[in-house]
Amino acid sequence: MSELRLAPSMMCVDVTDTRDVLDVFNAQGVELLHVDVMDGSFVPNIMLGTNYVRDLRAITQIPLDLHLMVDDPLGKLDWFEVVPGEWVSVHAEATAHLQRTIDRIRAAGARPRVALNPATPLSVLDWVFDDIDGVLLMTVNPGFAGQALALQTLRKIAALRTLVEERGHPGMDIEVDGNVSVPNAQRMAQAGATTFVLGTSALFGPGSDIAHDLRLIRRAIATAQAGEPV
Ligand code: DX5
Ligand code: ZN
Repeated sequence: MSELRLAPSMMCVDVTDTRDVLDVFNAQGVELLHVDVMDGSFVPNIMLGTNYVRDLRAITQIPLDLHLMVDDPLGKLDWFEVVPGEWVSVHAEATAHLQRTIDRIRAAGARPRVALNPATPLSVLDWVFDDIDGVLLMTVNPGFAGQALALQTLRKIAALRTLVEERGHPGMDIEVDGNVSVPNAQRMAQAGATTFVLGTSALFGPGSDIAHDLRLIRRAIATAQAGEPV
């Protein structure tokens, strides 16, 4: 059976609803909380900083999935005081010292991923492949919720799945981030994705019922992973 992790995007949660939403996530067995850190430089938006990360940790047991959309992530990593059990994604485009940054994440006891923008080739993974636990494939350009899927990223997920099998790294997590709606999640799952960032497309639309929508997308992904017609 394939891995399946749901990672709701915390930047889409109204801050005043955070505790109630976390209760729903707990009840639904949500695996990870996706935290988008944006610095206004690497991406044209500013979101979720160090205080938010610290406060969120204090009110949940669900591990954080930090997505660092910042320049010089190596210089900023210590600011986040990452803890064992968390995942940290660092963009290949954001640092000249990708391997060193990965090592630093691992040394903190966290699980490193490399994040790639839609246009960034998989070949940047070649010489760090054995150092990471996962890859975050942006399926939209990073910076904003509510964008449309970059269609070519479906082929990119499939190409990464093939690479994972060729390289004999079957536990490698493939995370998808951006426009993960129910139908898109099914296509992404068929292509080989295993962690799904859930933003406005799946969970946080107007008037949404988060518990219902979590059950719906989990079932839809599991069906697609099982190879059943979707
Ligand atoms: C940025 C965020 C967004 C967003 C995803 O990395 O993770 O991509 O919340 O959700 P959508 O695209 O469904 O709004
Ligand atoms: Zn993200």
